Amino acid sequence: MGSAVVQITLFGLLLALVIALPNKDDWDIYNFYINSTVTSRYATTVVTSRVANRMNEPKEIEFQVRIPKNAFISKFRMHIDGQDYNGVVKAKEQAQQQYTHAVSRGQSAGLVSSVGRTLEEFKTSVTVAAHKKVTFELTYEELLKRRLGKYELQIHARPMQPVKDFKVDVHINENAGINFIEVKGGLTTGVLANTTTIQKDADKQAWLYFYPTEDQQKTCQGCGDQGLNGDLVIVYDVNRDTSLGDIKTSDGYFVHHFAPYNLPRIPKNVVFIIDQSGSMHGKKIQQTRTALIHILKDLAEDDYFGLITFDSSIFHWKRELVQATEENLGSARTFARAIQDRGATDINAAVLEGARMLNLHPREGSASILILLTDGDPTTGVTNLETIQSNVRKAIADKFPLYCLGFGFDVNFEFLEKMSLQNNGVARRIYEDSDADLQLKGFYEEVATPLLTDVTMTYVGSTNLTQTTFSQYYNGSEIVVAGQLIDNNVETFIPQVVAISKNQRIVFSDPTATTESTKTVSDNRIQRVWAYLTVKQLLEKELQLSGPEKDKVEKEALRLSLKYSFVTPLTSMVVTKPQGENTDVLHKPKEGEKPDPVRPRGGAPQVMGHGGGYRLFAGSLPGPPDPPDMGYGGGYGFFLPGGQPGLPGPPGPPVMGYAGGSYGIPGGVTRHRDTGRLRQGQEPSMATMAPVYPGQSIILPEDGVGVSHEDHSLLPPATPLPATPAPILHRFLLKTVNSSLPLCFDLPGSVSLKLLHHPNRELSVNGELDSVMRGSFKRIVIHFKTEHHVEIDAKGITIRNGQTETHHTGDNFVVTAESLTVNKRDKEIDVSVGDLRMAILIQVIAAEEFHWPVLRQKPSDTNITGILALEPVVYEEVQQTPSRKLKINNQEIDVTRSIVFDHSIISLPALDCWLMSAESALQGSLDDFIVTQL
Ligand SMILES: *[C@@H]1O[C@H](CO)[C@@H](O)[C@H](O)[C@H]1NC(C)=O
Ligand SMILES: *[C@@H]1O[C@H](CO)[C@@H](O)[C@H](O)[C@H]1NC(C)=O
Ligand SMILES: *[C@@H]1O[C@H](CO)[C@@H](O)[C@H](O)[C@H]1NC(C)=O
Ligand SMILES: *[C@@H]1O[C@H](CO)[C@@H](O)[C@H](O)[C@H]1NC(C)=O
Ligand SMILES: *[C@@H]1O[C@H](CO)[C@@H](O)[C@H](O)[C@H]1NC(C)=O
Ligand SMILES: *[C@@H]1O[C@H](CO)[C@@H](O)[C@H](O)[C@H]1NC(C)=O
Repeated sequence: MGSAVVQITLFGLLLALVIALPNKDDWDIYNFYINSTVTSRYATTVVTSRVANRMNEPKEIEFQVRIPKNAFISKFRMHIDGQDYNGVVKAKEQAQQQYTHAVSRGQSAGLVSSVGRTLEEFKTSVTVAAHKKVTFELTYEELLKRRLGKYELQIHARPMQPVKDFKVDVHINENAGINFIEVKGGLTTGVLANTTTIQKDADKQAWLYFYPTEDQQKTCQGCGDQGLNGDLVIVYDVNRDTSLGDIKTSDGYFVHHFAPYNLPRIPKNVVFIIDQSGSMHGKKIQQTRTALIHILKDLAEDDYFGLITFDSSIFHWKRELVQATEENLGSARTFARAIQDRGATDINAAVLEGARMLNLHPREGSASILILLTDGDPTTGVTNLETIQSNVRKAIADKFPLYCLGFGFDVNFEFLEKMSLQNNGVARRIYEDSDADLQLKGFYEEVATPLLTDVTMTYVGSTNLTQTTFSQYYNGSEIVVAGQLIDNNVETFIPQVVAISKNQRIVFSDPTATTESTKTVSDNRIQRVWAYLTVKQLLEKELQLSGPEKDKVEKEALRLSLKYSFVTPLTSMVVTKPQGENTDVLHKPKEGEKPDPVRPRGGAPQVMGHGGGYRLFAGSLPGPPDPPDMGYGGGYGFFLPGGQPGLPGPPGPPVMGYAGGSYGIPGGVTRHRDTGRLRQGQEPSMATMAPVYPGQSIILPEDGVGVSHEDHSLLPPATPLPATPAPILHRFLLKTVNSSLPLCFDLPGSVSLKLLHHPNRELSVNGELDSVMRGSFKRIVIHFKTEHHVEIDAKGITIRNGQTETHHTGDNFVVTAESLTVNKRDKEIDVSVGDLRMAILIQVIAAEEFHWPVLRQKPSDTNITGILALEPVVYEEVQQTPSRKLKINNQEIDVTRSIVFDHSIISLPALDCWLMSAESALQGSLDDFIVTQL
């Protein structure tokens, strides 16, 4: 499109807008209050404004507020002439129908649109009779995210005219104690420098008041005749203890903030993959070079790193990771300085190469990180997005997180976001601006100091947990988990964190500490934190899924959004106004949503969405140009792009890891099994304690160090794909003698295993691993003698005795056939033949059953074979460096240290283990343990 055409179009729009817009001189804002309450980092902000129509005729009055992107609007109300008009949150589709309907009647639709990096704008209007008043009230909620050691509450003030009575009140209530608090942002500079007051009370509470006079509102920086226009950013952190962190319970819900700081840093292996395609030309490539040179300076000597640039080809600085010595860093900087833009964008080849380099460099006690910076879509090599995602997933295989930085707005951000989430990372947008190098550097700093890897949070006595496993935890960030207490019982609630710190496993628990319980009457705030986190994580998950799985997750996210009245990308707020007026339908924009085409608004076109379109609207009409929506200014250094919707994460604790397992404490207390992300927001089941016999070899599924559930379950098996997706892996544990570290190994979810063959009893038990749900067998079949067959799957138990077949779905029953007894109990199926006893544990999550077999009693007959019959292994450690080696039966085996969950023991001990190939662990061919037919 030529620029002349653009100008004409824009001019046309302007004219239309001028005609259609409410005139801001027609009304008087009596008061404008922003009231924010933060409790346990959950901020609820209420904006109220009372406005009068000063004209002698009815006038349309507009209410316009900018809120953080990360927040969900939860309430909107207009009070006119003694009557309340409440916004109602509805399913987006439903609201959309209403909207279409409204449009066809020539009515308008309100919008929430994205503004700049961190804000989006809520806007609606209402017609008010001559000299009458209206009160608007908007509530939004957000969980503050800890980044680089601090929380930031951003309050944007822009009432569009000087206001007689303007107040910002912030109340922060943190029981852990407020470590520091300060206020920054454009509204704290110039004439407003001394207008904010902060009061602290015994460190647990702080109040901030900002009451600028009308004069101050006109003369402050960035302000003018239109009054205030800028940010207040309240920056604070809380005190940290050294152990489990801050746990708060209330009304049957808990939230746990975990952010230990006094841990040694874990050396990292990091590979930077830098797009140098033609589109990076000019400032972008310059800023990238600058950032890279800075970042290289920050690497520690025990870090290893790699640097790749790519366009249609790949350029290595070095083919392998090298240590961050002065000499190597110097050479890398020289390489970085010489990066030039050219060519096309082969993302696939570049990321695979980065993954290859990291895979070749496993280092015990280190944390690996892959960082991709790109500014465009893949244009050469493999360009099919799904194929790239599938390739990348396979190459990374959950071993390390991938962070994608999307530079500018030409990137397909959703593609990057999906790819990051699938690989336990997050995506971040880098805004094309003068501070892009600082944004890049700021992002890097967030992941620069890994303190823990393989973090697993367990909460005995709770259910409906948000994500509980995180591949890495970085200094300055925070892990937040929320859930429900079973029976609202604080007594049986036992939180615990298991993670790997530099070379050792650490258990964070605090048996003496009593969980702080808030007994405030009907304080449902913790519940809302839970709902907020759950919805955010479900939205993230939904992005990664497709088909029925996606629908299911979407449905749950929608259900919760509606229940808690959150305006999310799945819901809309319908604002019904006084009779004869248009209904507004407010949607939350998606991150990176391209400027929407013109939408009708009372007959006039309205421009919305990102960038150009919106700025034109805001900047040209109501007066002063928008501030370059960013940088809180005022000594604020740089600015990190805010969380994107559905992306609560900083690169913070990346998502993934093993999903949980069974939990418990000895003694038969009920416990649940958290199965991790896949089942977020769904109901885990109870299980009872399974005794373990000494010397027994147990096999367990593991939800996988570096393997996360849905990464593999993304693709329904029926979906044909351009490339084969990586199969999901089930982790098994193999006991060893003398309480030495157990062994563990992974098996792909596509095989059927020989579980137990007992020829002398004519018994064989085979199981088909689930190809979607980790830690589960899809089907287990027991053959006894020639005529008895028992088949167990999610649909129930089918028993065939000769010609008769019976199907059982009930809860408790016993079936016998000669010496075989099958006893279906509440949460397990016990099977016994003679002195052999085994059980198939059942977990029910969201109506789906997860089966796992355990051997309860090994028969005296030593002739039995199968994976359940493996003997404890004896090994010897023969080498520590450069890589670990164990000797088993005179064979040296490469191993790495990892973690396996003992799913057969309900208390789910997270065990350290030596991870090795299945062949090595099984001391033979895998074929000996695989059956072709169940
Ligand atoms: C702000 O909230 C506090 C606590 O809920 C309340 O006491 C106060 O009146 C509110 N202020 C305004 C201006 O609404
Ligand atoms: C703010 O207070 C400081 C110290 O009290 C003073 O030096 C400064 O001039 C004040 N600024 C304004 C704009 O009043
Ligand atoms: C983590 O951050 C804290 C606070 O900024 C700092 O004191 C500590 O030294 C950091 N830890 C490491 C390992 O860098
Ligand atoms: C967990 O959530 C589900 C649905 O969200 C709900 O039906 C169930 O009651 C919750 N579990 C508990 C223990 O409250
Ligand atoms: C177990 O440990 C004991 C004492 O340390 C040792 O004598 C024995 O040989 C060990 N057993 C095996 C199988 O390694
Ligand atoms: C295995 O079973 C066969 C057949 O019953 C028997 O002859 C043999 O002794 C058994 N071996 C062991 C180790 O029990």
